[in-house]
Amino acid sequence: MIRIFPSFRFTSLLSAAKPFCSVACSSSPAREPPPNLPYPEVKSITVSKTPKTPLFLRTPSHVTPLSEVWKWHDWAKDLASSVESSSTKSNDSLESVTLLRELKWLIEDTIVDDPLSILHKKEIEDDDKKKSVKLRASLEELYDLWKQRIENRRPFQYVVGCEHWRDLVLCVEEGVLIPRPETELIVDMVEELVSRDDWFKKGIWADLGTGSGAIAIGVAKVLGSRGKVVATDLSPVAIVVASHNVQRYSLEGMIEVREGSWFEPLKGLEGKLVGIVSNPPYIPSDDIPGLQAEVGRHEPKLALDGGIDGTDSLIHLCHGASRMLKRGGFFIFETNGEKQSKMIVDYMTNDLKHCFSDLKIVSDFAGIDRFVTGFRR
Ligand SMILES: C[S@@+](CC[C@H](N)C(=O)[O-])C[C@H]1O[C@@H](n2cnc3c(N)ncnc32)[C@H](O)[C@@H]1O
Repeated sequence: MIRIFPSFRFTSLLSAAKPFCSVACSSSPAREPPPNLPYPEVKSITVSKTPKTPLFLRTPSHVTPLSEVWKWHDWAKDLASSVESSSTKSNDSLESVTLLRELKWLIEDTIVDDPLSILHKKEIEDDDKKKSVKLRASLEELYDLWKQRIENRRPFQYVVGCEHWRDLVLCVEEGVLIPRPETELIVDMVEELVSRDDWFKKGIWADLGTGSGAIAIGVAKVLGSRGKVVATDLSPVAIVVASHNVQRYSLEGMIEVREGSWFEPLKGLEGKLVGIVSNPPYIPSDDIPGLQAEVGRHEPKLALDGGIDGTDSLIHLCHGASRMLKRGGFFIFETNGEKQSKMIVDYMTNDLKHCFSDLKIVSDFAGIDRFVTGFRR
């Protein structure tokens, strides 16, 4: 079951072959970033060694009268329909149509045995009244979860504990960024590259700031059996969740999850990586308070805040890529789009002279200049 349908898929991207060049890299940055950024503060959040089990994977141990489920469903629909009339229209209001779609998904994840056909009847019949259904959460929890979604603006993905991303269903919880559809393009670009050049399938890749492990898992799958990905994150919650997702896809042999700041857990791999992918925090600090409630109130600041102009981590990654990539190695960095992508290309061209070649800006599904890609000379 796929829940997000990107409007189109990327078909051809990397037209240039893997270039090799003997020009030495001269790094003389005018705007010298610290080689190791100071550790950002990690908001205190209880870290458990095992992530929360998403609703759809729970045992259906709650046998409940259908009439009670029916009542809950009516209440949930009414609450969803009431939000638009009660909200003063702003950019940050909830939409009933979105909530009703989410309610359908919540039911699919919770109720065993063809739940929708029962709940979509106009009226409950006498026969149905005697029926019971098996649920993966108690009714009490379902009332609470739906209130959290609407009244606290808790993201739907945290409510159900998972996100459908590319061909994966990834566990997510508070403390870990919910992977976004546009980030799927990073895996598509890697797939395109490795389909044309086997060299990239044999070497080591790094996914920096792995979060739920989405990119690392996607890349490992397209690399095939010889692939090797090291996934790093500073957030202990991300490390637990990414490790769990890696296990769920039986990719422990291909993906190693390491805790630490950016390249720090990659000591010993200098000049040895064939690829680096990263979707770092890139939102300018001043924009954080204006984010949609679901994002600003619930997603981790560590995953969002990119410093004054949003490029602190990106600049750090540019320097790291010059040290860590093999000659001919490839990188993709996701950015906030437009101005930021251009800034990163300018920085790599002018301040990290001769380190990279074939620098490109690649748009996302919405036509926003979202990614910077290139090769290590
Ligand atoms: C925008 S999120 C991306 C998560 C995931 N890669 C994705 O695309 O869904 C940025 C990630 O970078 C991590 N991060 C922030 N600062 C870091 C640092 N200094 N070292 C390593 N990871 C860091 C955050 O914890 C977060 O998981």
